[in-house]
Amino acid sequence: MPEAVLSVSRQALVELRGVKKTFSTSRGELIACENINMTIEKGRSFGLVGESGSGKSTVMRVLQLLLPATEGQIWMNGVNVSGLPPRKLKSYRRNVQFVAQDPFGSLFPHFSVGKNIAEPLKIHKVGGKAEQLERTLDLMESVGLAPDLYSKFPHELSGGQQQRVAIARALALSPQLLVLDEAVASLDVSIQAQILNLLQEMKTRMGLTYAFVSHNLAAVRLLCEDIAVMYLGRIVEAGPSSEIFKNPSHPYTKALFQAIPAFIGDEVKPLPTTPIARRDRPSAINRPSGCAFHTRCPLATDVCKSVAPEWTELTPGHHVACHHADEAQRHL
Ligand SMILES: Nc1ncnc2c1ncn2[C@@H]1O[C@H](COP(=O)(O)OP(=O)(O)O)[C@@H](O)[C@H]1O
Ligand code: SF4
Ligand SMILES: [Mg+2]
Repeated sequence: MPEAVLSVSRQALVELRGVKKTFSTSRGELIACENINMTIEKGRSFGLVGESGSGKSTVMRVLQLLLPATEGQIWMNGVNVSGLPPRKLKSYRRNVQFVAQDPFGSLFPHFSVGKNIAEPLKIHKVGGKAEQLERTLDLMESVGLAPDLYSKFPHELSGGQQQRVAIARALALSPQLLVLDEAVASLDVSIQAQILNLLQEMKTRMGLTYAFVSHNLAAVRLLCEDIAVMYLGRIVEAGPSSEIFKNPSHPYTKALFQAIPAFIGDEVKPLPTTPIARRDRPSAINRPSGCAFHTRCPLATDVCKSVAPEWTELTPGHHVACHHADEAQRHL
């Protein structure tokens, strides 16, 4: 994404600038993500979408400083935190909390609900025992957990209740950013809806900012004002989600939307050829030349095979990297 996208934001909470992350594997260097520029603005939520293996979790781990970036920087509130020594990262870690996909796996199995939620308060020495108890009960109420669950253990709860505990714990320190990586994916569909409604309601009530990763585009549309679409480690389309859902302009975005029946609206027509899901996906180790999507794209031409597309701004803030975005808009 071009620099212009960064400057649009006046209230940037977290920014990734030129982030690249590679892994050494037995088959060679794997580029999990590259040239990632994104801005998560205060009070807005940012959704990252793309097929499995496109690099979403890697971006989120780098953002949380759980993985060192191979290149690039992470900024929070105008400070470059990527170069700070571990002892100076306490405030960043406190302000960026994570809700994982598997709620049971993320909770301490031998801790009660109350102890799980209060754990961050203890670690960070926030308040005395009475305050911590009060805060824990408040958090339980915020996420819709009855107080009598306080003494239960994670295995005694349903998946939805476990995820509510995980969310309450993530909120314990009043973080500025909540990272949710497929946080509802392991739950039953009806429970997913309840958790999504809870997240949406808390976002409004508490002014939270989410970095939300999901293959569920309906969830992304519900929660996120801004989205970025990733393909094979790079962002290929980004901007306000209202604009992208109305006018998807990258053939890959269109194909993703097409794969979700709920999103085949009047504006988004099915791809004319074989759906992308049925074609072979290239590997992140042998990334195709030019536009990496050319091996699967119904609109690919010779230029796509040799020249990586530049970013184009279609409407304010809506960027796409495709040689034939006009055609994609008209014909796909
Ligand atoms: N620790 C790791 N070592 C080697 N390869 C990894 C590692 N983590 C992720 N990858 C690879 O990086 C690419 C992106 O993975 P990931 O970020 O998990 O994608 P997503 O979350 O979109 O499914 C994949 O090809 C994956 O196999
Ligand atoms: S640049 Fe070419 S191959 Fe890539 S998405 Fe656009 S049309 Fe398809
Ligand atoms: Mg992932």
